[in-house]
Amino acid sequence: MAKTARRATTGVAALALAATLSIAACDFGGEPEGINPTAPGDGGSATEVVTVDGTHVDNAFAGATMYVNHSWSERVLEQADSTDDAALANDMRAIAYTPTAVWMDRISAIEGNADGPGLRHHLDAAVSQAQDADGPVVVTVVIYNLPGRDCFALASNGELPATDEALARYQSEYIDVIAAMFAQEAYRDLRIVTVIEPDSLPNLVTNASEPACQEADPYYRAGVAYALDAFAAQDHVYAYIDAAHSGWLGWDNNAGPTAQLFAEVVRSTEAGFEAVDGFITNTANYTPLEEPFLKDPELQVGGQPVKSGSFYEFNAQFDEADWTADLYGRLVAAGFPEHIGMLIDTSRNGWGGDARPTAVSTSGTLDTFVAESKVDARTHRGGWCNQAGAGLGRLPQALPAGFDDSHLDALVWIKPPGESDGSSTEIANDEGKGFDRMCDPTFTTDRLGGQSTNALADAPVSGKWFSAQFAELVANAYPTVGAPVPAPREDPDASKPVGSSAADTGSGDPEDGARQGGADDKDASDDTAPSTADAGASSRGCDAELVVTNQWDGGFQADVTVVAREQIAGWTVTVVLPSGSSTGSLWNGEATGTSGTFTVGDVGWNGSLAASATGTFGFTGNGSPPAAGDLTCVAH
Ligand code: BGC
Repeated sequence: MAKTARRATTGVAALALAATLSIAACDFGGEPEGINPTAPGDGGSATEVVTVDGTHVDNAFAGATMYVNHSWSERVLEQADSTDDAALANDMRAIAYTPTAVWMDRISAIEGNADGPGLRHHLDAAVSQAQDADGPVVVTVVIYNLPGRDCFALASNGELPATDEALARYQSEYIDVIAAMFAQEAYRDLRIVTVIEPDSLPNLVTNASEPACQEADPYYRAGVAYALDAFAAQDHVYAYIDAAHSGWLGWDNNAGPTAQLFAEVVRSTEAGFEAVDGFITNTANYTPLEEPFLKDPELQVGGQPVKSGSFYEFNAQFDEADWTADLYGRLVAAGFPEHIGMLIDTSRNGWGGDARPTAVSTSGTLDTFVAESKVDARTHRGGWCNQAGAGLGRLPQALPAGFDDSHLDALVWIKPPGESDGSSTEIANDEGKGFDRMCDPTFTTDRLGGQSTNALADAPVSGKWFSAQFAELVANAYPTVGAPVPAPREDPDASKPVGSSAADTGSGDPEDGARQGGADDKDASDDTAPSTADAGASSRGCDAELVVTNQWDGGFQADVTVVAREQIAGWTVTVVLPSGSSTGSLWNGEATGTSGTFTVGDVGWNGSLAASATGTFGFTGNGSPPAAGDLTCVAH
């Protein structure tokens, strides 16, 4: 069991020193007036860093169940209940229990406020989800409250100005309070992943000439370093720094300085590189995971390389798979250990729907070729606010297969789909949020190459529920809701403590042996959907297909999709588990039995299906999963 140890004044002194050093190292291109270069380091209250010893694995998501934020689920289900289009409502219900992150977007979010329950509520809920799960639960918390937040935009300006006093509040009333809560005994078996301050360091790379970003610069550095040290002291807490997205930082002359800045800030912490588990890209953005029809930025069209088209503006990083791969290499070269991993926010980067291209363009005119081939339907890659045409992206998954160069720890849903990016007109609020014209659909700007913002109309302020956007995101999901999830990849090191490796643990590990001999290894290393096998079942009125979505030592997770052959009122699916296996938690279904042959019935709202409509349920299990493939389904 983890123990609490307290790091006394040395830790505090080192923090203050780290912050002071980071200020000395920063480059404002001219120091703004009114900032005392040593102040941010002094601004912290003299609280002690709470140390929690335990196991810190290489990839917190591997072998863990991701936390489902039921406050978000409730909003989704409420909207489904008031949606007339039955198929769309069904799709909303099918994704209602998708894991999403918990945002601490102001001090009051810690205790809970009008936007939802507080951090303790979520951690308690995660502990109770862990009781039904096999293995640990991983809960993702977004740390988003730096002084001078969102210095290059207005929609997510925050409550803390860029001042010494505000940094002191950030440290003592925000980070210290969050860290102290994480440290509580009850939460030490959770894996708590923190996403550190979206957009903050990236703004220092590209927007250094903006006065608000110059003012914010020392506070971003000191605040990020402080947060990293506070979380690094607890072994069950993990930190991923925000690295914007390919359409922001992908150019070589941005990407190089990004890796250098990250290394500089992380070196200024007491914990050093060990403070960081990795980086996250595309947080709350819309950049695709992959551009399937634009694989080669150097491909010549009309005598010019594709990357020189006006949409890419000579940025060769077309998608997040490219960007994470490129950034990983730069970070390791800048001094980060090779075991760092990447996360990608895929919550809203799906770009499905009827307009999605299905093949590469045959045009010989470069811009037409790009426009007809790209799945990202934005008018400009700088569009970031409530983008029209966007859809839900790939479901959260640990160790997604097929992105070897990207070193992906997981795909995650950080921005909860349905929460606005900013208001499309000015709306008074008490959160410090401004009105950014990038959220105004009638606005065109040079920042977007003279294009319009592509933002949806009638949006509420950032963070508030935007039902029209949510409906569009579900309708445009890609992959479509209910599509089989590709099997994850195997990574023998992912569940091991940081610094150890498969070789370190020896090949005699009986669990490793069992897993390597397991029947699903073939599928798990494959980047395609698992094969289906006809089990010879006799179904009536519906069909059901099981897909193993995740597998780890001693356990698995599976999703089952029921497809109605005709209009049906309800269904019962029979599943046969291998001997020695049993079910753990089960969602969107009502089970009879936990081992051998068990049945699962619908839970009302997912039972009544029109012909060809689908319903889903899922479950985790101990032992080996059933073979992926067809199950018996009986309609009633
Ligand atoms: C907002 C936050 C909100 C978050 C998640 C940000 O854009 O500024 O208030 O919590 O999005 O929706």
